[in-house]
Amino acid sequence: MQKDFLSTQNLSKDDILAILERAKHFKKLGKSENKHENLLEGKSVLSAFFENSTRTRMSFELAAKRLGADVLSLNPSISSTAKGESLIDTIKNLSSMQNSFFVVRHFNSGAAQFIAKNTSAHVLNAGDGCNEHPSQAMLDIFTILEHLDGVNFKDLSPIKGAKISIIGDIFHSRVARSNIYAMQGLGADITLFGPPACLRHASVFKCKIAKNLKEAISGADVLIMLRIQLERSKDEVALPAEYPKYFGINENSLKDAKKGVLILHPGPVNRGVEMSSGVLDNTSLAYEQVENGVAVRMAILSLLANK
Ligand code: NCD
Repeated sequence: MQKDFLSTQNLSKDDILAILERAKHFKKLGKSENKHENLLEGKSVLSAFFENSTRTRMSFELAAKRLGADVLSLNPSISSTAKGESLIDTIKNLSSMQNSFFVVRHFNSGAAQFIAKNTSAHVLNAGDGCNEHPSQAMLDIFTILEHLDGVNFKDLSPIKGAKISIIGDIFHSRVARSNIYAMQGLGADITLFGPPACLRHASVFKCKIAKNLKEAISGADVLIMLRIQLERSKDEVALPAEYPKYFGINENSLKDAKKGVLILHPGPVNRGVEMSSGVLDNTSLAYEQVENGVAVRMAILSLLANK
């Protein structure tokens, strides 16, 4: 592994397998009475979330605590950021505290990379603008493998040739980007679908683009549903009342799906928009993804520390 965890583009198959193998162990640990393994004892992890988060932030912080690290979180709205301090100055000051890891979420694409260049601490990208969200891709692949090959999956080979449809706001989605790069590298057969405004520039990914929801659903082994990111779209992507009919899934549209299709969503879910409540609660793997996220993040943190 390199110093930082910023993108799935530079991860080798061996890197991905090492993360997922280790995550299997941490998932078992998470189900046991004592969930701690103090591999990061004496180290500190600073989470700096300049954008909203529930799952990713809690999961990184819990992962770091279960590894025995000192965990601090910066709240930009009550930090000197609110007084106008620049990102570089904030990072330089925090680095002076001999912090071992930064877990960063930022609204600017490239922010995590920028920070990584300006600190000797390990930097983990917890989502930068519309760019990447690499730990989400790792936990998605982990979840898919557990279902395609069982919890003791041996390697990454079930992803090769798997038909994976990513549906929704591809244009604004860092989850889509990190998943596309990682899964394409593992040989997945990826199809994209969403409202036309959400498929702008999608041809750069060299994936199939479905013409309609039925085409995106039928034959797929995995559906990854994405939230429409209205906070990023400045009205260019309106959310019409018809969205669920043309781009969302429910019990009825799933009649076109393969039996046992795996349904993922990174959260937060707009119930009844990208998926119905019934599909979210009864069929989707959304809550398993959240459970796996802690284990996968423990794996990434400990591997970066060479522990
Ligand atoms: C995603 C994100 O923030 O990129 N959520 C997450 O991290 N679990 C997706 C989203 O916000 O829609």
